Amino acid sequence: MTIIDGKQLAKDIKAELAIKVSSIKAAGGKIPHLAAVLIGDNAASESYVRNKVRSCEQVGFNSTLIRQDESISEDALLEIVDDLNRDDDIDGFIVQLPLPKHINEQKITLAIEPKKDVDGFHPMNFGRMAQGLPSYLPATPYGILQMLERYNIETSGKHCVVIGRSNIVGTPMSILLSRKAKIGNCTVTLAHSRTKDLKAETLRADIIIAAIGRANFVTADMVKEGAVIIDVGINRVEDATKKRGYRLVGDVDFEGVLSKVSHITPVPGGVGPMTVCSLMMNTLKASKGEIF
Ligand code: GUN
Repeated sequence: MTIIDGKQLAKDIKAELAIKVSSIKAAGGKIPHLAAVLIGDNAASESYVRNKVRSCEQVGFNSTLIRQDESISEDALLEIVDDLNRDDDIDGFIVQLPLPKHINEQKITLAIEPKKDVDGFHPMNFGRMAQGLPSYLPATPYGILQMLERYNIETSGKHCVVIGRSNIVGTPMSILLSRKAKIGNCTVTLAHSRTKDLKAETLRADIIIAAIGRANFVTADMVKEGAVIIDVGINRVEDATKKRGYRLVGDVDFEGVLSKVSHITPVPGGVGPMTVCSLMMNTLKASKGEIF
C-alpha cells in the first residue's frame, strides 16, 4: 500500500518550476506574473489566496494581490477584470470564489479573457479541454493527473468512478480521465446524489475519485481490494483535542479503507497541496503563450 505524498510532490514540482524561472531570468525572458482578486474576508478564501501568493514567491513568479471589500459592486469587479485582461504584464489571473451573493459568478468568469484564465473555468477553456485541444486545466483535476502520472499509476482500460459532478472537480475529472491521453483512457462512471446504488458502482472501481464534500463518506465496504483512492474532500469535523476546535478529514474513511487499497491520498497533505502547483504550471504556460 502506498500513501501518495501530495505535499512532497508539490515541493518537487515547485522546485522544478523555480529552476525553469531561473533559466528564464538568466535568458532575460519575461518573469511569469499571476494576479489574484480576493473579495471580502472569507477565512478559507484568504488562506487559499495567501498560499497562492506565497507559492508564486517560492518559485520566483511575480504576483499581484487585489483585495476589495465585500460591498464591491458587480460593475466595479467587472472593471477590475477588464483592467487585468488588458494589462500586458499580467500573464494570468484568478478571481477567488465564492463571491458575495450580489455578484453573478458566471458573469465574472465569462468576463475573464480565456488566454489569462489560469483557473480554466471559462467555457472556452472547458470546451477546449473536452475536445482535447490545448487549454488551461482546472487546478484540482490537473493536480490529480500529475499525481497519477508521477506515481506511475496505470489508468488505461481501468474503471474509474468519480463521485461528485461539480464544474470545478468532478465533471472535468470525468472528462479528462476518459480522454485519449497518457493519463486517461479510463472507462468512467460519474456518480452523484441521484446515483441509485453507489456502492455497486464503487465496488467495480479500479480508481475512485471522491469529491462529494462529506466527511468519511466512502467506507471500506464500498471499496474493491487493490483500488486506487484519490480523496478531494476537505471537511472540518469537531475535535476538542485540537487548539482550533476542529480537524480536517477527507471524503474517505482513510483508516477504514487503508488495508484494502493499493494507493491512497491523505487529507491533509494529498490533493490539496497539488492544486496550487497546477495554477503555477498554468501561469508558466500563459507567460510562454503555450495554450493560445
Ligand atoms: N475557490 C475554491 N477553489 C477555487 C479555485 O480553484 N479557483 C478559484 N478562483 N476559486 C476557488
